Amino acid sequence: MADNSETKKTGQLNPPASAPAAGNPNPSNVNKKKEVDRMRRRFLWTFLWGYLGVNFLMFLRYFFPRALFEPPTTFNAGYVADYSLGVDQRFLQSNRCWVVREPGRLFVIFAQCTHLGCTPDWEQAQNIFHCPCHGSEYDSEGINFAGPAPRPMDRCHVELDPSNQILVDASQRYIMDPAAGTNQFNDPGAFIGA
Ligand code: FES
Repeated sequence: MADNSETKKTGQLNPPASAPAAGNPNPSNVNKKKEVDRMRRRFLWTFLWGYLGVNFLMFLRYFFPRALFEPPTTFNAGYVADYSLGVDQRFLQSNRCWVVREPGRLFVIFAQCTHLGCTPDWEQAQNIFHCPCHGSEYDSEGINFAGPAPRPMDRCHVELDPSNQILVDASQRYIMDPAAGTNQFNDPGAFIGA
């Protein structure tokens, strides 16, 4: 009976035990908010580190310029006596050249198809150069006879140094272009008498 009189005095009921007190938020809501904050922080840190990482990689990229490493254009090809008759491929990988020795002369073909610039293959069994890109074919002197290549492959400058070794300069070329009436294959420097 004392409890009823107390209720009547204040005119209010006590809040249920499960309801959060005023100014004291629901713990499950607090946990949810913490979780959202944690995820938001994680996202921001991930974004920040990703941004910094990409910028760091771009910074490092400056130390590795996009330079094309061309093979050296001049090289010593040894003595004429080092070559037997035919096409020699020893400088193909390093200098993109074939050394060709024939009775009476030695010359150097620059290994570049005159159609669109691919490197042809030397087909020893057929005694021809064959371009894998569009099928141009050249004889053992680099003269085109099939496919879309418009002219023979170029030849490189060759000369003998004072010790009689062959010096090749692939930046200096001799061309034959029948359509233009040009033939530099017999010019001095286009071959060595051998
Ligand atoms: S590049 Fe050689 S045939 Fe086209």
